[in-house]
Amino acid sequence: MIQFILNDQLIQTDAPPGTALLDFIRKDQQLKGAKLVCKEGECGACSVMVGKLEKGTVFYQSMTSCITPLVNAHGKHIVSIEGFNMEELTPVQQAMVDSYGTQCGFCTPGFVVSLSGYLLSNKTLTKEGIIAAIDGNICRCTGYKSIERAAGLVLEKVKKDLPVVDIEGLVKSKFIPAYFMDISSRLKDLEQATPQNGNAIRLGGGTDLYVQKPVEMYESDHVAVYDNSAMNQIEIADGFCSFGAAVTMGDLYRSELFNQALPDSDYIFKLLSSTQIRNMATIGGNLVNASPIGDFTILLLALDSEITLEKNGNGRSVSLKEFYKGYKKMDMQEGEVLTKIKFKIPGAKNHFHFEKVSQRKYFDIASVNLAGNLTIEEDKITTAHMAVGGVGPVPMYLQKTCSFLEGKKLAEDTIDSAIEVLNNEITPISDARGSADYKRLLARQLFIAQFLEVNPGLFNLKKLIGQ
Ligand SMILES: Cc1cc2nc3c(=O)[nH]c(=O)nc-3n(C[C@H](O)[C@H](O)[C@H](O)COP(=O)(O)OP(=O)(O)OC[C@H]3O[C@@H](n4cnc5c(N)ncnc54)[C@H](O)[C@@H]3O)c2cc1C
Ligand code: FES
Ligand code: FES
Repeated sequence: MIQFILNDQLIQTDAPPGTALLDFIRKDQQLKGAKLVCKEGECGACSVMVGKLEKGTVFYQSMTSCITPLVNAHGKHIVSIEGFNMEELTPVQQAMVDSYGTQCGFCTPGFVVSLSGYLLSNKTLTKEGIIAAIDGNICRCTGYKSIERAAGLVLEKVKKDLPVVDIEGLVKSKFIPAYFMDISSRLKDLEQATPQNGNAIRLGGGTDLYVQKPVEMYESDHVAVYDNSAMNQIEIADGFCSFGAAVTMGDLYRSELFNQALPDSDYIFKLLSSTQIRNMATIGGNLVNASPIGDFTILLLALDSEITLEKNGNGRSVSLKEFYKGYKKMDMQEGEVLTKIKFKIPGAKNHFHFEKVSQRKYFDIASVNLAGNLTIEEDKITTAHMAVGGVGPVPMYLQKTCSFLEGKKLAEDTIDSAIEVLNNEITPISDARGSADYKRLLARQLFIAQFLEVNPGLFNLKKLIGQ
């Protein structure tokens, strides 16, 4: 049985665990505030807050309920727009009215949930942060400026009324209803272990599965890994960073340890989907989905990562660069679960960089993405690990190009010759993300960008890009 708290109400249900959370909220519970629009995680109209008990307190994150499996709600507090409503408008709802932030109103519940959720999930509030919290919400009529003004009004009010932003303060100043005060003790009384439903499909956040096969997911057997506590840890030891496959992009974004391992990686996370999707998207799911343009896959390939696969208590390690065998084919046996990912933390002589080009700068999948981890000693490239996505049937570790680079001088001639090797190694095709020629050009430019990152003053950019 799946148990969770929906707004103020305890839910105990035998509904199929693969039901989309939004369908359960709208059809079974007849709460129609969260809207069904794209059903692909793209628009945010179905946003809910998901609260999870962590070290005795509830940590809230926004998610798109249209592609959230019901089983992933187990043991949690789910807040739809109805869960924020009180007799009078909340300051967030009032700010949307005062700044003319709503017209047809279809997107409005999602925006209000994301804005209110930002207050629930952050202690330090900033203008940049509150705007980033609505990066997964789309409005087709109002125009974002008025919604941004609403966000500004919310921030002003919080700063004026709340010396400390916590649940008690938010309740007192009527941002959230009083029942929020009891949620942590009510969650402690719930069964926390996630119910399982067979052993067919490994289910992470569902952000790929529910877009690719929403109907099958409804009734399918699965093993839910999203809340597997053994796969949710992030560690640093002996110069390596390792983390469980159920860790999400959002977990890594917030992790101080991951930030120590890859400092200044903020810019990377901002290029990955939206706040809601990052909170759901596991790294294991990104790797096993095996998309040739999976961003984290490309990043982890360039870090020469190692993964652990387990079945019936037996584990084996595989180098990520050996994992992909063909389009969506992996060195993975039936029933194996990807449990862990590990990489050596780049040192002072390493230069790690990730680049992504997509049709929209934010909230889009890549046309081509490329990451590199180059070790430079004096003026020599001593080791090279580079990976590129979108130019072949698999996320591609650039074996030949890297072998060519190793031991060579860091110079324009080396880069020119390496581009020839790169061009022979990649096999782009034309599709909705661009023509084969365009992708070849992107791969080349992103490759050059890796070297400019190492030392922009060393190269004649115009000569390198052939102008
Ligand atoms: C709106 C939207 C935007 C997106 N933007 C991006 C983006 O910018 N960049 C990007 O890279 N991706 C993006 N994605 C794709 C997706 O979010 C990621 O690939 C994500 O990491 C998948 O993780 P998940 O936990 O949701 O996987 P799921 O959908 O749960 O699973 C994906 C696959 O992995 C398998 N699986 C999951 N966990 C395990 C495990 N531990 N062991 C074995 N098999 C497992 C599943 O069986 C399934 O085959 C986007 C998706 C959406 C819907
Ligand atoms: S309906 Fe569009 S994100 Fe869920
Ligand atoms: S108000 Fe109509 S979509 Fe936003």
